[in-house]
Amino acid sequence: MNSGKYLQGDLLYEGKAKKVYSVKNDKKHLWLHFKDDLTAFNAQKRGSFEKKGAINRDIASMIFRHLEKAEINSHFVENVGERDMICDKLEMIALEVVVRNFVAGSFAKKFNLPEGGRISGGIVEFYFKNDALQDPFVSDDQALYLKTARDQRELETLKRLALHVNRELIDFFLALRVDLIDFKVEFGRNHDGDVVLADEITPDSCRLWDRNSHEKLDKDRFRRDLGGVGEAYKEILKRMREVHGGM
Ligand code: ADP
Ligand code: TMP
Ligand code: ASP
Repeated sequence: MNSGKYLQGDLLYEGKAKKVYSVKNDKKHLWLHFKDDLTAFNAQKRGSFEKKGAINRDIASMIFRHLEKAEINSHFVENVGERDMICDKLEMIALEVVVRNFVAGSFAKKFNLPEGGRISGGIVEFYFKNDALQDPFVSDDQALYLKTARDQRELETLKRLALHVNRELIDFFLALRVDLIDFKVEFGRNHDGDVVLADEITPDSCRLWDRNSHEKLDKDRFRRDLGGVGEAYKEILKRMREVHGGM
């Protein structure tokens, strides 16, 4: 495929939710293709639904544009076609940075707490991004030993940026009558060594609960066999277009 300005190059990597291509004659950018595949529990559970890639591409790009207005730099450059995105090629930091505003998921399980308790201010956790090890939790010192981050200062930057993203997204989703329960983000370094938000922010990587009914509008519908997975993702995009449309 080509988009006028950008020509799709070779497939560099196929992940669980996206395919990563080079851009021909352009070393600075990558071509991200959002797949319809849906996986959970380190791909032990697999599924898909029609248009999932297109929906997630639209959600991710609207969120990156919104964050840009709050001066949060991301890798997003522009959308191409129905389910593709051009982004800046980064040196990825092998950490999944999770922010939690409410007790849910692995946090609820780990501490035997009921889901839904508020965590005011937000908690940041680091997980080592490594499929073979199933992305284990790491302390700051473990992350530094593994050389995922350059130094403690870079870890502090990741925490600060993740919490800034959190503050912006809490309000972004509240306007849709949705509580942002928790989410995962990834970061990379650009040519100047600056830390930049990367990958995606979508219902794959967030827990999103309807404010009134507490209905889950995210990948937990798939993880927990609740049904209505595609409908939930579509509902999030619909509300985003209604409230934040024209972005
Ligand atoms: P996974 O690798 O976890 O299965 P995906 O299917 O989403 O995940 O694959 C996308 C891959 O692209 C991820 O490994 C992610 O870290 C990487 N990535 C995301 N944004 C960038 C970027 N701007 N530069 C380089 N790599 C990126
Ligand atoms: P957890 O409660 O399972 O640790 O998940 C916390 C958040 O991170 C939740 O919003 C889902 C997201 N997440 C990912 O995006 N990828 C993952 O591999 C995992 C485990 C969680
Ligand atoms: N991201 C992991 C997977 O796709 C785990 C999860 O989201 O539950 O398998």
